[in-house]
Amino acid sequence: MTYKIAITRQIPEIGIEYLASKGYDINIWPSTLPPGPEELVSFVEDADGIISMLSDQFSKDILKKLPKLKIISNFAVGHNNINLLTCTRNSVKVTNTPDVLTEATAELTLTLLLSVARKMITATKNVENGEWKSWNPTGFIGTGLKRKTLGIIGPGRIAFEFAKKCHLAFEMPIIYYGRRPKSSFEEHLNAKQMSLKQLLAESDIVSIHCPLTSETKNLIGATELNSMKDGSILINTARGEVINQNDLELSLKKTQLFGIGLDVTAPEPIRHDSPLLKYENIVITPHIGSANKEARNAMSLLCAENIDAYFQGTPLLTEVTIS
Ligand code: DGY
Repeated sequence: MTYKIAITRQIPEIGIEYLASKGYDINIWPSTLPPGPEELVSFVEDADGIISMLSDQFSKDILKKLPKLKIISNFAVGHNNINLLTCTRNSVKVTNTPDVLTEATAELTLTLLLSVARKMITATKNVENGEWKSWNPTGFIGTGLKRKTLGIIGPGRIAFEFAKKCHLAFEMPIIYYGRRPKSSFEEHLNAKQMSLKQLLAESDIVSIHCPLTSETKNLIGATELNSMKDGSILINTARGEVINQNDLELSLKKTQLFGIGLDVTAPEPIRHDSPLLKYENIVITPHIGSANKEARNAMSLLCAENIDAYFQGTPLLTEVTIS
């Protein structure tokens, strides 16, 4: 039997070649823009398996229209775009791409932090705009990172790699907020667990890494933003909805923060009229955490291997289950 696999965007060839070599019938979404909800249904309704993107929403209503579907292999570690409960009830397996993108996303988090701390975007724009007239002893004054306190929200794998870099390179003390104590953080980074309130009050840098769930949606709102330290930096490379973006936008006029780095926004892409785009020391990247060649190739292959494992009847490599 030939299984039909729908891939909702062009992904690195390695995963496609892997599936092709095993004889799957592959259909790749032809556009560089993602399918809308109706287009998504008509594109995947005939598929036995899907390689999906984090921008494809597999809601209860959409899943209801896909009775043939056996497996969704999500090209991301986050899987908040998939209704896991409905998948479980309908016996649709779900997999994701943990580990292979950890280093890339940790590196991007560090890039955002350094860019904000040294006003990198305003500085490069100044040169590009022909405004570099002389050396300026008071221009583009950043903030140092050495021994600053790093507060991690969501102490998972990506957070660990990012915190390790900050701890080793900048001697940062690490504190964290999470559901339970994390021995990796405590043993290797001498990190201390604390309440969110305490963490926000003590951190010079707050970096968000938790998954988006009903508990973490809008976790950082007006109260939390107000309780951050003067001159601190907020970084989010997890999901935009963890921050109440409306509250963040309203806080900007009188913010005490030194700067903000966001790889994720709500919605994505960010609205063109968002005030976040007007503030000098906010660096926003278009959700590129996993975007290096090593990670994207490994994600492509892992997605394909999960699909093949399912149809071969062997254990899935990285199954997502309800915790
Ligand atoms: C993912 O894969 O979920 C992350 O957003 C990577 O940036």
